[in-house]
Amino acid sequence: MNVQATTTVVTELESDAMVAGIFTDGILGSNLADLNAAVGGAVTRLVERRDITGKAAEVVRVLSPSGLQAGELVIVGLGDRAAFGQAQALQAAGAAAKQLAGRPRNRIAYCLDGDWDDAVTSAAVCGAVTGCHGQDLYRSERKLHVFGEILWSTGSPQAIAEGVVLGECINLTRRLVNEPPSMMTPVRFAEEAAGLATTFGLDIDVWDERRLHDERCGALLSVARGSAHPPRLVTLRYQGAADDEPAIALVGKGVTFDSGGYSLKPTDAMKTMKCDMAGAATVLGALVAVARLSLPVNVHGYVGLVENMVSGDAYKLGDVLTSRRGKTIEVLNTDAEGRLVLADVLDVAVSQGAHRIIDLATLTGACVVALGTDVAGVMTNDQAWCDELIAAAQVCGEPVWQLPMFAEYAEQIKSDVADLKNIGDGRWGGAITAAKFLEQFVGDRPWVHVDIAGPSFAEKPKPWLDAGGTGCLLRTLLQLLRMRS
Ligand code: BES
Ligand code: MN
Ligand code: ZN
Repeated sequence: MNVQATTTVVTELESDAMVAGIFTDGILGSNLADLNAAVGGAVTRLVERRDITGKAAEVVRVLSPSGLQAGELVIVGLGDRAAFGQAQALQAAGAAAKQLAGRPRNRIAYCLDGDWDDAVTSAAVCGAVTGCHGQDLYRSERKLHVFGEILWSTGSPQAIAEGVVLGECINLTRRLVNEPPSMMTPVRFAEEAAGLATTFGLDIDVWDERRLHDERCGALLSVARGSAHPPRLVTLRYQGAADDEPAIALVGKGVTFDSGGYSLKPTDAMKTMKCDMAGAATVLGALVAVARLSLPVNVHGYVGLVENMVSGDAYKLGDVLTSRRGKTIEVLNTDAEGRLVLADVLDVAVSQGAHRIIDLATLTGACVVALGTDVAGVMTNDQAWCDELIAAAQVCGEPVWQLPMFAEYAEQIKSDVADLKNIGDGRWGGAITAAKFLEQFVGDRPWVHVDIAGPSFAEKPKPWLDAGGTGCLLRTLLQLLRMRS
């Protein structure tokens, strides 16, 4: 998306719409003060009448303002000045964009006030780029129309460019999630990855079924067996630092559709299960972002792509699988498939020398029960590594919350017939028993598991973002990598 820095005086900017911001304290910043003067004090009158309150993501539109070269003036609420940060900037810019995208526009000018640091500017640009993109990939008449271009009157050109990259990569992740499941099969996902790898200079390795057999990925292959669409394991490598610098592995769950298998999901639970590859889509989006921003780090992405289906040859309850690591697993619920896929993918990452690991997975409904739909659960075998991720998330304003990993939870995944079983003893603590299962496959590597079952897919739209895939935590991952570089 074309976003240009502009130094033109705001009252002279030509645009279909101009976006300015105001905090709840009602004090006009210099851009808004200039605009207010140009429109004869209309903004101050709206503030006095309480038509404008500055409440977070409130959008007030002044149509056809005389005195401006703009079709309309949009005043967006920035919330409480003291609470302002990346998340608030993103949501305000996104809310304005989403409203304006209701019909086609050529040029939108953002003239937000405040002396923002680069990271906050980037977040706001990111919000504008994501806010005007919808999930309506297949509607003849779109509900949201992507802007022709955006002019940005505050912040450095680098901060603006970085925000565009983040926004576009989040939109990439969202699109992959939003594509219907019969379209976004494992093979198709791998093809998308290959195309992006070529465009952005990433090394890529795609393992097909045969290679997965040769590599003894028995757990992943068992999940895949019920599907007519063959599985893939995609490895992406970005070497931004010296080759002997340690590599960070990002591992993603890529179940392109989760029917539950023979432990079949009811319709209501199944209807959104195209989202079950959101972890993989986030890893791909993050790798593209790292490459486009040329971060000086080594990052490797691993995504396990399968479809969890029923068929005459699908894996069954009571089956015992042998994972790549050699541990045997008794299957007592075919709907606990994500941990089986990740068991093998994590082992590949470990055996290829990953020094530190983060996995992202729409792993459990239990995590959504625990934390709700907007907060990701994090679990770890290494507190310092987890603290880095939590710190990055805090900077970005993306909510995450840590769940404990007491040894007692692991008792539940012991099996009478195999080394492990793929579910706990009941549904209580299900997010953690799933993480304890994954922990068996990361060896001694510092590892953080991020359960994004809640926040990666929105059933209802937010004021700043359409419903569907959200691209959550992509900014956090980039922030974490930046903090390490
Ligand atoms: N993909 C689901 C988890 C999920 C639930 C993601 C809701 C997004 C929204 C996962 O494969 C699953 O089915 N988990 C089971 C585990 C259970 C059988 C132990 C669950 O959460 O019910
Ligand atoms: Mn499942
Ligand atoms: Zn699943």
